[in-house]
Amino acid sequence: MDDQGALPPHVLIFPLPFQGPVNSTLKLAELLSLSGLHITFLLTDFIHTRLLRHTNINSRLETYPGFRLESISDGLPEDHPRSSDLFMELFDSMKAVTKPLLKEYILTSRRPVTCIIADGILGFTCDVANEIGIPIFYCRTMSACCLWVSFCLPKLIEAGELPFKGDDLDTPITSVPGMEGFLRRRDLPTFCRSGDLNDPSIQLFKTEIQELPRAHGLILNTMEHLEGPVLSHIRVHCPNLYTIGPVHAQLKSKLGGMTTPSSTSSSNGLWKEDRSCITWLDSQPSKSVIYISFGSLAVITNDQRMEFWHGVVNSGTRFLWVIRPDSIAGGDPGSNIPVELSLATEERGYIVGWAPQEEVLAHAAIGGFLTHSGWNSTLESLTEGVPMICWPYFLDQHVNSRFVGEVWKLGLDMKDQCVRDVVEKMVKDLMEVRKGDFIRVADEMGKLAKKSMGKGGLSYYNLDRLIKDIALINV
Ligand code: UDX
Repeated sequence: MDDQGALPPHVLIFPLPFQGPVNSTLKLAELLSLSGLHITFLLTDFIHTRLLRHTNINSRLETYPGFRLESISDGLPEDHPRSSDLFMELFDSMKAVTKPLLKEYILTSRRPVTCIIADGILGFTCDVANEIGIPIFYCRTMSACCLWVSFCLPKLIEAGELPFKGDDLDTPITSVPGMEGFLRRRDLPTFCRSGDLNDPSIQLFKTEIQELPRAHGLILNTMEHLEGPVLSHIRVHCPNLYTIGPVHAQLKSKLGGMTTPSSTSSSNGLWKEDRSCITWLDSQPSKSVIYISFGSLAVITNDQRMEFWHGVVNSGTRFLWVIRPDSIAGGDPGSNIPVELSLATEERGYIVGWAPQEEVLAHAAIGGFLTHSGWNSTLESLTEGVPMICWPYFLDQHVNSRFVGEVWKLGLDMKDQCVRDVVEKMVKDLMEVRKGDFIRVADEMGKLAKKSMGKGGLSYYNLDRLIKDIALINV
């Protein structure tokens, strides 16, 4: 007999290769590692290279015993942009090239792999797990509300609510149980607007999401008190649900008492952080600054940038704005900035290419967040009690922003509008006119988030249950 029983379980974690999912899944990996599990965090070569270039990831992970960061090919040429609009190319390539590599990696691993945790959209990972004969847990890094809408796509098609053409976006949607009464066409994931049932994204979400029940369990970065009604619908199909969010805050809380280098920086960014914005924030009055960021994938036109810029400047509010180097379509034209914008930005604004966002949102000077409603950004904002103006860009973000505005009352949904007057009015509403109301609701939500991940909270309990369930597999 070998001594396998004495070794901690070895979990192979394989995230979707984009900034948002890598960020939260790596935090889940760190949480599992802190509980004593052995972890291999497997990235695609492309993401691995960028993480190494822009973060102190290796020295951070070194502090976790039994943690390995590895990479395999996604099958695309090195110079492929891997942008979100080319997702299907990436997905098809991974299915063809990464799938056999993943199987070989697991079969030849020096430490036997106990189970896989993979992103639920990468259905081929379940085939690999079944072929090898080990359990797989899926994680989905989007909100439960968007997951449920995606799960209901076949229902929508059956009811004739899909496809629709791009007009009449205010038509109510009635065949997503639990969302009757407030969900409209415009709040569906953006690929639903294509008017074509053969749209590859509709096909992908329609089929892959239906596969979620094949996994041993489903891990979601959300909280019961936030998405309880929707979660009860998902549970009918995936009864073994682990709601463990917000993972960034769970990790921060667990590291709070430690003195490892991890507690000083938890950046998983694919761009270099510009920390000078924290010094700038230090000199601003309490809750006076609106933070603007559209996440890691959104690309806006220069016209849209100018509408936002004029709107925010005209509102008179102080602002900190993240403009990623690759986020303006066709590149930043640089010159021709109206003098009133330059002067106002010098006086009460600050622009960086990439910010330490979690730290920014936790800063006392921040009073609001103009966001693209990516799920990580939404969770980071609500954990810190920061109200939002939502300008969703694509995919799940349109569902998230509807929930932020209409269901959770944590801010204003500006979707499908990018006009300076609207931006100005919404910023004034959030930061002045209705500031007290929004801050009160957001504060309450922040407290609930902290309670849920503290001892006795449901997210805390569910993480513990996940760790115990993984440990049992090894017996
Ligand atoms: C997208 C989707 O919007 C998201 O909902 C989906 O689940 C995954 O793909 P992304 O554009 O990356 O994600 O947005 P988001 O999920 O909000 O993640 C962005 C991450 O980058 C956040 O964790 C945020 O803290 C971080 N970030 C962003 C920074 O650290 N600095 C910045 O300047 C901007």
